[in-house]
Amino acid sequence: MRLQQNNGRELQMKELIKKIKQKKELENVEDKYVLSIAKKILEQNDKLKRAVQEKRIRSKEYKEVIKKAREKLRLEYGMFSEGLEEREEILKDIKHAKEKKELINKLFLTHQPTKERISIYPFIYQKIFKTTGKPKAILDLGCGMNPVSYPYMKVKATYYASELNKNDCEFLENYFKIMKIKGRAFALDLKNPNLLKKIPFVDICFLFKVLDTIEKKGHKLAEEIIKTVKSKWRIVSFATHKLGGKPMKHSYRGWLERMLERLGYEYKIIKERNEIFYLIKKN
Ligand SMILES: C[S@@+](CC[C@H](N)C(=O)[O-])C[C@H]1O[C@@H](n2cnc3c(N)ncnc32)[C@H](O)[C@@H]1O
Repeated sequence: MRLQQNNGRELQMKELIKKIKQKKELENVEDKYVLSIAKKILEQNDKLKRAVQEKRIRSKEYKEVIKKAREKLRLEYGMFSEGLEEREEILKDIKHAKEKKELINKLFLTHQPTKERISIYPFIYQKIFKTTGKPKAILDLGCGMNPVSYPYMKVKATYYASELNKNDCEFLENYFKIMKIKGRAFALDLKNPNLLKKIPFVDICFLFKVLDTIEKKGHKLAEEIIKTVKSKWRIVSFATHKLGGKPMKHSYRGWLERMLERLGYEYKIIKERNEIFYLIKKN
């Protein structure tokens, strides 16, 4: 009897996980991770728990579980506007500190992609710039916390950073000011690539872990962005691990390689444990 009950519960959760993951940007998240998020939501609310147990998949409550789980997953990986108070506190400390490196690392910890990149910041830019040359103007699209890594670049460059929300841009502009970086941060929705035409020509454009976040279906948007951006080099990166830790089956992005060949762009790959970088240049 108990075994049957357990099997039934497992099936309910499997079905719930499947439904939560029915969004392109979430399909690579590990089941185990989605399960842990869903369990937490159900533990906090009996009504929602009952709806799942009774398999009322069309009920308002069941839908709410799915919505809440997706929100949580997106926040963890996608959106930048998180941990706002904490990052403001750290920024204040940076302003007054003589030794800023530890505090900069603390800022990286407030956003998942920079947190995952901490171990490679000390060398990744040198590896990239060995191929591209040292840039004098940098554009970082869907930049998240990445502009904070400027000191690791060891260049003297103008930094253009774009994010989705104004709040995030204000934070980055304050950082630039405190760190005496010649830079600007501005709100730009990458779903409208035409806006990229207004940005001045740069030597290098970073699109770190952003294409997977903004594309829901297919790769038309990625193609538009890659074609429209005015830059000598485009550095496009992707995760090689699923949210939750397991390596992806395919960390190379075949679709991108085929697209670049079709468009006549040259590329070179740098593969690190957590992230794969495509260094792209028009022939
Ligand atoms: C996975 S994070 C990568 C952040 C950063 N590039 C990095 O790798 O450290 C994706 C970023 O894209 C931003 N983003 C999401 N949708 C966007 C959109 N429509 N336009 C511009 N940025 C967007 C998010 O706010 C988030 O900071």
